[in-house]
Amino acid sequence: MLRYLTAGESHGEALIGIIEGMPAHVPLTAADINTHLARRWLGYGRGGRSKIENDKVHIYSGLRFGKTMGSPIAFRLDNAAYTKDRAGWPEKMALEGSGDDIDPVTLPRPGHTDLAGLQKYNFDDIRPVIDRSSARETAMRVACCSVARQLLAQFGIAVGSHVVRLGDVTYDDASDWAARRDALLEDGGARALYEAADESALRMLDDDLTAEAVEHIEATKKAGDSLGGVYEVVVTGVPPGLGSYVHWDRRLDGQLAQAICSIQAQKAAEIGDGVQNAARPGSQVHDPIAPDGDGSLTRRTNHAGGIEGGTSNGMPIIVRGYMKPIPTLIKPLDSVDLATGEAQTTRYERSDITSVPAASTVAEATVAYTIANAFLEKFGGDHLEEIRAHVANGTAQPGSQRP
Ligand SMILES: Cc1cc2nc3c(=O)[nH]c(=O)nc-3n(C[C@H](O)[C@H](O)[C@H](O)COP(=O)(O)O)c2cc1C
Repeated sequence: MLRYLTAGESHGEALIGIIEGMPAHVPLTAADINTHLARRWLGYGRGGRSKIENDKVHIYSGLRFGKTMGSPIAFRLDNAAYTKDRAGWPEKMALEGSGDDIDPVTLPRPGHTDLAGLQKYNFDDIRPVIDRSSARETAMRVACCSVARQLLAQFGIAVGSHVVRLGDVTYDDASDWAARRDALLEDGGARALYEAADESALRMLDDDLTAEAVEHIEATKKAGDSLGGVYEVVVTGVPPGLGSYVHWDRRLDGQLAQAICSIQAQKAAEIGDGVQNAARPGSQVHDPIAPDGDGSLTRRTNHAGGIEGGTSNGMPIIVRGYMKPIPTLIKPLDSVDLATGEAQTTRYERSDITSVPAASTVAEATVAYTIANAFLEKFGGDHLEEIRAHVANGTAQPGSQRP
């Protein structure tokens, strides 16, 4: 099984990550990871940090001649802001010393972790909370989870995403985006989906909608406000039988909900058409089973999002993530200065107006990690050929619905 750890502060020198449990002989290069790190900076409405950072991963271990060795893979990502900002981060984030000459941050910002984190760890300066709770950490998650994507790719499993709502702007009907999505999946699986989405300034599949959403972001920026939204993550090529119904913590739907909600500012995860399904009669929800020639089975619809009873059923897996609006606003919010006890309004710092397109790429990564782990649980081995043999011997083949 795979596991990974990330370390590092947003304005510290670097982010560090280790992923362990990767089978041997999987092709992997820094370029494979850098591609997804660059995709994480996509999206109209990003703030100043996107102009500073140029994430390129440094790999220290676990690879030899472009292939994994089965040993832990260690990464570093430098924070360019540490040296490029003129804010004195090397002094403010110094590893040693008293910090007596540094002004503490004492005004907690609503919607951020500031107050809860300060109360939890008993700080009198909010800086440590700000720096670790920041979504800068997701850069290292993308690096670690891109390794899982490489493993999945060996078995024709791909993960993609696209944005379906930006604040108020969305499709007239869910069937509009589903039709565009399914045409792309038919063409080239989830990779075709994410490549098409990456062409749009907001990772949307409709040009008019993208233009409308860009205007919405501009108007929101003028009003000093921020936006959230919704995106869809899709996994194609998934065999039936990943996850299980036999125990709560083996349910794939529960694991995917954690994959989404573990990302900063993601406040809901929806499996398939979960939200709409709750309002429909069962006859319009449950996906009829049908023959698909040569003894295989298929489903006429996929309202379940490819998972029944916590177990993949061979249809594409579809998970939606719901992101709250960015909490740093130009418009001040009410707070209390903890040093004086006096009411005060928040001050604006460099920030995104919206990060939904970026969040969708981070969610691709965390979903890929979750699916890779479920795949290894079923077909696992120490090296690629061993896993291939397990897949070949199994009844549940990737991409097939054979009972
Ligand atoms: C990719 C990404 C980028 C983000 N960028 C910002 C940002 O620029 N400014 C900001 O205030 N919040 C940003 N956030 C959101 C905060 O990280 C998040 O709201 C905060 O950590 C509190 O999140 P929580 O409610 O999930 O605890 C971003 C989140 C993600 C996933």
